[in-house]
Amino acid sequence: MENKFSKEIRADEDAFYMSNPEISAKYLASKLSNYKSAVELCSAVGMTCICLAEKMDKVYGVELDAKRIDDANYNAKLYGVEKRVEFINGNVLDEDILKNINAEVAVLDPDWSVDKNRPQDHAFNLSDTKPNVVELFNKVRDNITHNIVIRVSKNFSLETLKIVGMCHVDNIIYEGRIRFKYAYFRDDIKEMSEEDIILDRENE
Ligand SMILES: C[S@@+](CC[C@H](N)C(=O)[O-])C[C@H]1O[C@@H](n2cnc3c(N)ncnc32)[C@H](O)[C@@H]1O
Repeated sequence: MENKFSKEIRADEDAFYMSNPEISAKYLASKLSNYKSAVELCSAVGMTCICLAEKMDKVYGVELDAKRIDDANYNAKLYGVEKRVEFINGNVLDEDILKNINAEVAVLDPDWSVDKNRPQDHAFNLSDTKPNVVELFNKVRDNITHNIVIRVSKNFSLETLKIVGMCHVDNIIYEGRIRFKYAYFRDDIKEMSEEDIILDRENE
């Protein structure tokens, strides 16, 4: 995608590549705007957190890479949401971090690549994501909330996602092809469903 972001964000090459484009981060923020607080686990340089903070009172981001935390703080200022976002440098699997986060909804955005040198090759098994998203999902349910969204590779089918729990899936499509999926897990979702969401410039 040529213009992934509307501003000149700060990001290393891998983080820029992996980052949720602004158009789809904004779509997610609108979809979750009934919540007042959120946490994003694996927040990289902060683009999903920033869009969530445009709609919510308080957003946390947790990320392992300290340089990406610096870049995320810079980007939050660039977008004018720095007062509503807090980035925490740490491991998302650390329950001492998770249990101290108060958020109504959690967004999980692990790395899907199976080989660092071939970032376009994505995992087919949920447990091959970095970190293991099944383990992360269970820790988030135990420590934070049952309202969970996972941004997953287009490789993950409804059958695969069912391993984690019942969910609704948005197939995110722009510039003519499916890019990735958002899987929404909540206690009131009792069967698997999916729909195509076409995002294009005119919807921004
Ligand atoms: C797909 S990127 C996240 C993109 C981001 N959500 C956005 O919208 O820009 C995945 C991130 O997960 C981070 N990560 C991987 N394992 C982690 C762990 N155990 N704890 C915290 N962050 C981790 C990586 O450093 C990487 O920045």
